[in-house]
Amino acid sequence: MDMRMRPRRLRGNEMIRKMVRETRMDKSSLIYPLFVMEGSGRKEEIPSMPGQYRYTLDILPEKLSELADAGVGSVMLFGIPDHKDEVGSGAYAEDGIVQKALRKAKEEVPDLYYITDVCMCEYTSHGHCGVLCGQDVDNDRTLELLSRTALSHVQAGADMVAPSDMMDGRVLAIRETLDQAGYTNTPIMSYAVKYASAFYGPFREAADSAPAFGDRKTYQMDFHNSREGIKEAMLDVEEGADIIMVKPAMSFLDMVTKVHDMVDVPVAAYSVSGEYAMVKAAAMKGWIDEDRIVCEMAASVFRAGAQIYLTYYAEELARFMDEGRIG
Ligand code: PBG
Repeated sequence: MDMRMRPRRLRGNEMIRKMVRETRMDKSSLIYPLFVMEGSGRKEEIPSMPGQYRYTLDILPEKLSELADAGVGSVMLFGIPDHKDEVGSGAYAEDGIVQKALRKAKEEVPDLYYITDVCMCEYTSHGHCGVLCGQDVDNDRTLELLSRTALSHVQAGADMVAPSDMMDGRVLAIRETLDQAGYTNTPIMSYAVKYASAFYGPFREAADSAPAFGDRKTYQMDFHNSREGIKEAMLDVEEGADIIMVKPAMSFLDMVTKVHDMVDVPVAAYSVSGEYAMVKAAAMKGWIDEDRIVCEMAASVFRAGAQIYLTYYAEELARFMDEGRIG
């Protein structure tokens, strides 16, 4: 039989499989999303995300130290305020929940890298990602509030800001505001390719941020579109984004690859709450092997072209990497 090429030769044992492995992963690529809330002495489990919690600030450092010990070097902070209003004032308040969390975290666990989600939906009474004009979000008025939010985060100690609102021009507005205040070296990771997705369902329960009316389709992207995602990514790079994010991850891996090929900044992918909830639910039923699924999902994101992976499974993945189960 004339068969020169036998791909199975390179799969003969673990040694050779590892030698020819194309995707190498490292814990430094992982970012863990973390919810903080007012109050004290409590961590509340998020019902649709078993194993994920909202933390009060006094017990936050404990969780942060645990992450640091596991080798997860960075977190993405989300705030859940006690009070919401029409203009989302808690988002940019000096003593807002994220601002307070940052000060505490920076003081008690200074070695982690702190990224903040910059958006208004957790802070507005109507649950939309900006201020309203009638039934729609007023893009340009929202830019000023997003810029104030980003600046207040950086002043409170954020190492990086990540706008997730999907308003046009927000990266430029935030860049100019940070630069004018002297924060020229603080990077912006833009949720540039963010789809209007049902995969965010559990997050909205966690953050109590579901829109009171309508949906987010006038600002988040239509999931049928791909070229529009490239447009968003390119615009944000022009506006000064240092990193481009694609979100959700699992059903949008084509976009991770395309963005990676089209722009010359690092690409991040966010495995969102609904992805976590689906895996968790099936695992709790005993229907899938959770650990192996989590490893495959992670590898697929890096294989598609991401350098950064945001996931609620960051701690588990760090352990799997230590154990040599992936990497
Ligand atoms: C805020 C924001 C959302 C998520 C991250 N930032 C919710 C949304 O846009 O509705 C979703 C994260 C997740 O589902 O894990 N705009």
